[in-house]
Amino acid sequence: SRSVSLLSPLSSFPQMAERTGSVKQQLANLVKSSIQATFPGLSDVKPQVAVSAKFGDYQCNNAMGLWSRIKGSGTEFKNPNSVGQGLARNLPQSEIIESTSVAGPGFVNINLSNDWISKRIKDMLVDGIQTWAPILLVKRAVVDFSSPNIAKEMHVGNLRSTIIGDTLARMFEFSAVDVLRRNHVGDWGTQFGMLIEYLFEQFPNWEDVGNQAIGDLQEFYKASKKRFDDDASFKERAQRAVVKLQGGEVKHRAAWKKICEISRSEFDLVYKRLNVHLEEKGESFYNPYIPDTMKELTDKGLIEESEGARVIFLEGFNIPLIVVKKDGGYNYASTDLAALKYRLQVEQAEWIIYITDVGQQQHFDMVFSAARKAGWLPQPEEKKFPRVSHVGFGLVLGSDGKRFRTRSSEVVRLVELLDEAKARSKDELIQRLKKNGTISDWTDGELEQTAEAVGYGAVKYADLKNNRLTNYVFSFDQMLKNQGNTAVYLEYAHARICSIVRRSNRDIDTIKKTGTITLNYPDERALAFHLIQFAEVVEEACNNLLSNVLCEYLYNLSEMFNQFYTNCRVIDSPEETSRLLLCEATATVMRKCFELLGINPVFKL
Ligand code: ARG
Repeated sequence: SRSVSLLSPLSSFPQMAERTGSVKQQLANLVKSSIQATFPGLSDVKPQVAVSAKFGDYQCNNAMGLWSRIKGSGTEFKNPNSVGQGLARNLPQSEIIESTSVAGPGFVNINLSNDWISKRIKDMLVDGIQTWAPILLVKRAVVDFSSPNIAKEMHVGNLRSTIIGDTLARMFEFSAVDVLRRNHVGDWGTQFGMLIEYLFEQFPNWEDVGNQAIGDLQEFYKASKKRFDDDASFKERAQRAVVKLQGGEVKHRAAWKKICEISRSEFDLVYKRLNVHLEEKGESFYNPYIPDTMKELTDKGLIEESEGARVIFLEGFNIPLIVVKKDGGYNYASTDLAALKYRLQVEQAEWIIYITDVGQQQHFDMVFSAARKAGWLPQPEEKKFPRVSHVGFGLVLGSDGKRFRTRSSEVVRLVELLDEAKARSKDELIQRLKKNGTISDWTDGELEQTAEAVGYGAVKYADLKNNRLTNYVFSFDQMLKNQGNTAVYLEYAHARICSIVRRSNRDIDTIKKTGTITLNYPDERALAFHLIQFAEVVEEACNNLLSNVLCEYLYNLSEMFNQFYTNCRVIDSPEETSRLLLCEATATVMRKCFELLGINPVFKL
């Protein structure tokens, strides 16, 4: 029997410093009060607040929608503009807002108070960036990511899933959500009969030989597959081995475990380099839960017989979801149904997020649809929790525009890929330091760490900055450029800000507490305004499961900083203290962005 993992109660989650919610959220609350005061009869209106492209800082866009609901009902309001006027008038008194104006068909432009912006930034510097974490609607989420298949090499698709999943998990964790980081490894299924039988045959003393001796599992897989295809008696033995494994035969279980262990230690090499933490609950974990799950679905009348298999017919799909194969065995879908039920009912997750290539979209749509039919999940239009989401992503392409491959093997070996990124970034770093004569300032350890941060960071960032659905071309030359929207450029930008603060010779921890921020110049104001949008950007990235939103924010932040630094002298200016605080706040927000993207910041470059 399997033990159910004990979950820590939600209350034991580390206490966060007080969060106020994003600026947008705070304004939405004010707008909500105003709508209530202006239209006491309408209780279901959602406040619409957005950053303004032109006038003011933010804009409230509720007037037109409200007008279309009230016009002709004998209202005192004459047109959308007068609705906007009413909304502006009824905004509660708040230190956040400096002024409002109403434009055209009732858009309420909202200008933020400079004093309030300065204070928000100062408070963050003193109390920590976690006070800027957004407030989300869920308390516990499962992120199902990476999830390679045992005995097969992890491929670039698994790498994308690992990178994207880790970032989403990090953003949720920052937002005080309890995240179950699930590695749903493919460790079960009929291929194990073949692998076990081949292990017995090739390594009669397999229990004693080291993992090294068994060697490359991908080769092992290929060889056993060949044996399986070529030799009928081997095939028969392999099929019997599956039955024994599933029946719990000790020797077969042990062999299966050994194969899983070898695979796992290979995957771990990648996770270690990427600094990604996962908790494995592979397909085999859910196997004991499948019969009950199938019974429930059968009792609810969802499962029927079709061409010898057992299937669920679902509206909107032209094929049924097969849950029991013709040979009576369970499959990927039955496992996912049992896993979903477990995650909802045992783990009590409110949001379950699956990260795979878009090719698996239909599989997940069907599993989700079956779960709704079983009553485990609300209908999607109810927009309620618990919620499930499939986060699909596109292909990684080589420079030839075809699926990414290396010369030596069919699939790229991820460890080699990451090592190459690091080696290239180290070469470049050393060359540059030699050229500008500063290499003697660097220890070997520093070179190594910096090369690693920049190299791995470049691989991650190149992936995360794209809209995940688009295919992207993997190119070391592109991702390691120190110009444009790359991790290298951003690392430089961050290191430069740190060096400005260092060169000032001021004690930044003291001026954080004693100094004030003034925003008298447009470039100071623009930078500060961008800084305080951090929380809502993370909020949006979480709610829409999009990491590129955060990358875009980070890139724009560094551009805004450049603009500020070009036009506003920092050191030895009358505004030195205030401007150093803006530098420090920028570096702090950049570091948090790096951290959320799984990239290590560097402090000198
Ligand atoms: N092992 C699968 C693959 O490599 C991904 C598993 C995704 N997660 C899930 N619950 N189905 O394609």
